[in-house]
Amino acid sequence: MNFPHFMLKEIHEQPDVIRDQIDRVISIGLPDRINILACGTSLHAGLVGQFLFEQIAKIPTQVRSSSESLCAPLLETPNTITIAITQSGETADTLAALQQVQSKRIAITNGIDSTITKLAEDTIYTNAGEEKSVAATKTFTSQLILFYKLAFQIAHWNQKLSDREFAAQVEALQQIPQQLEKFLSNNTIAEIAQSLKETRDLIVLGTGINCAIALEGALKLKEATYTHAEGYAAGEFLHGSIAVLDSQIPTLAIVTENNIRMQKTIDRIRANGNRVIEIEARTISELFSPFLTVVQLQLLAYHLAILRGIDVDRPRNITKSLTT
Ligand code: AGP
Repeated sequence: MNFPHFMLKEIHEQPDVIRDQIDRVISIGLPDRINILACGTSLHAGLVGQFLFEQIAKIPTQVRSSSESLCAPLLETPNTITIAITQSGETADTLAALQQVQSKRIAITNGIDSTITKLAEDTIYTNAGEEKSVAATKTFTSQLILFYKLAFQIAHWNQKLSDREFAAQVEALQQIPQQLEKFLSNNTIAEIAQSLKETRDLIVLGTGINCAIALEGALKLKEATYTHAEGYAAGEFLHGSIAVLDSQIPTLAIVTENNIRMQKTIDRIRANGNRVIEIEARTISELFSPFLTVVQLQLLAYHLAILRGIDVDRPRNITKSLTT
């Protein structure tokens, strides 16, 4: 298939990128604590990793942006492992942050032989292939799939998942590429983008594992479309921030199966007469929904950028990696 832009091509490459990762053998051992350092989109992948390590593998996990960890380093125990995630492997703050660490250092990167691989004891490659668009898409999902695999593996080793449960989770993971392909071949995101053409401010809400996707969706919308977008946890949004909403500010609500908290928030916003657009993933279990929810927000950012005549692969003011 021919694509007019790298961003769209890379969004569509995600099923294959995930497929390629699924059977690869990876391991980080069995730590008693995990620290994660990263920036931007990689930081949001780290937040999904934190959710999975804590909720599935029951390993205490901290995430800090690399730049902030230089001001406030994460606490380490003798059996902590620190994971630095960076698609480029060259982000200056992440390199500096990893150098400060005393515990075992693992890099997750797409940058073959990049600088981060020299600073880490072990490297896990995301193998997503070169990502040319400045806005990260396929490298994000390649980072996600690794976190799912590592969390299931640790949970199996420390008996938080039985053999049967582990096999079921791996099987569910194997269905993701197909589900994504189905979605990519038939979606209505371009129509939603059309309805947002004049919108200057957007709110993106998620709950649970999709809180990180709300942040990532907002970042993608800012980078690619120059829209002022902010991501929030749905319940937290009600505690003051909801005051910003008016008829000019739509909310994108990430809706997953049986999500009562999100429904309550949506009802509240609509009751005030304000618009809510549902970014919906009800046909997949909530645990695996980030793959389907993030792709919708990536596509929305892409289509909106095109409608606004933005050079989507090279947005203003940003570079592919911040090396200084
Ligand atoms: C992603 O779309 C952004 N361009 C940016 O946030 C990026 O994720 C960040 O600069 C970190 O880059 P890295 O993953 O190469 O370290």
